[in-house]
Amino acid sequence: MSPNGSDRSPRRSMRRKLLSALTLGLVLATATGCQSSNLPRLGMPEPRDQQGHTVLFLWQSSWIAALAVGALVWGLILWSVMFHRRSRSKVEVPPQFRYNMPLEALFTVVPLIMVSVFFYYTARDETDLTRISSPTHHINVVGFQWSWAFNYEHSVQIHDDQTLADPRGPGAYDVGTPGEPPTLWLPQGESVEFDLTSRDVIHGFWPVDFLMKMDVIPGVVNHFQVTPTVLGTFRGKCTELCGVNHSQMLFNVKVVTPAEYEAHLADLRAKGQGGNVPSGITTTGAGNLQK
Ligand code: CUA
Repeated sequence: MSPNGSDRSPRRSMRRKLLSALTLGLVLATATGCQSSNLPRLGMPEPRDQQGHTVLFLWQSSWIAALAVGALVWGLILWSVMFHRRSRSKVEVPPQFRYNMPLEALFTVVPLIMVSVFFYYTARDETDLTRISSPTHHINVVGFQWSWAFNYEHSVQIHDDQTLADPRGPGAYDVGTPGEPPTLWLPQGESVEFDLTSRDVIHGFWPVDFLMKMDVIPGVVNHFQVTPTVLGTFRGKCTELCGVNHSQMLFNVKVVTPAEYEAHLADLRAKGQGGNVPSGITTTGAGNLQK
């Protein structure tokens, strides 16, 4: 092989690798089934409740901040690679910047500031999203292997400190028919508190289009609150690996008008589904909750 040939072939294979990487990138960017209308949400579903907009905004802002930092870092790397690489004419080692205190302090302080900013906004929004503020409806979501039950207007109100308050009105419950995912009915425009309880192992309650999920833990009562804003039927699923049929632990979320919601509860009571099904939490006297 000529000296020229041996010089050229690594370059040619490099060019081929670059071309493959570009093609792969293009395929990944175009074959993911994303539409341009979804691009501003950066992969998040469209929020169907009030609280989801907070989550979406935090998601978008974090991406923009991360991209800005990424662009700066990539830019600096490319700049070094392009303008400070070793050439045939210059073989000596360039000046080194070791033990440069101001520079090293900068490299510590800047990331610290960035992480603090992310932390502040995440903690602020998380506090906001987990706050319970006098909801109109209380629904006890019961997770069990491998489905869900929904106790509407459940007769036992469970507070954050896990003590009992005044019992609530007659109640009604939804459990799916065998082989079909159960449906959680919700009234549009009215605030709903979910009290999450488990009868067996840890599950994860995720009404996908509300952009909020929370673990359902045996012996613990978790809460969050949503106000559905859009009528329609949406998806829900379990997000903790909870056994062999975990992937089938699905449910529907059906947002209807408040009048239709009340009519559904009356329907359930007429069908004999008044009251509540066991939540997995039993009471053993005032202030005590046991599994
Ligand atoms: Cu329940 Cu996974």
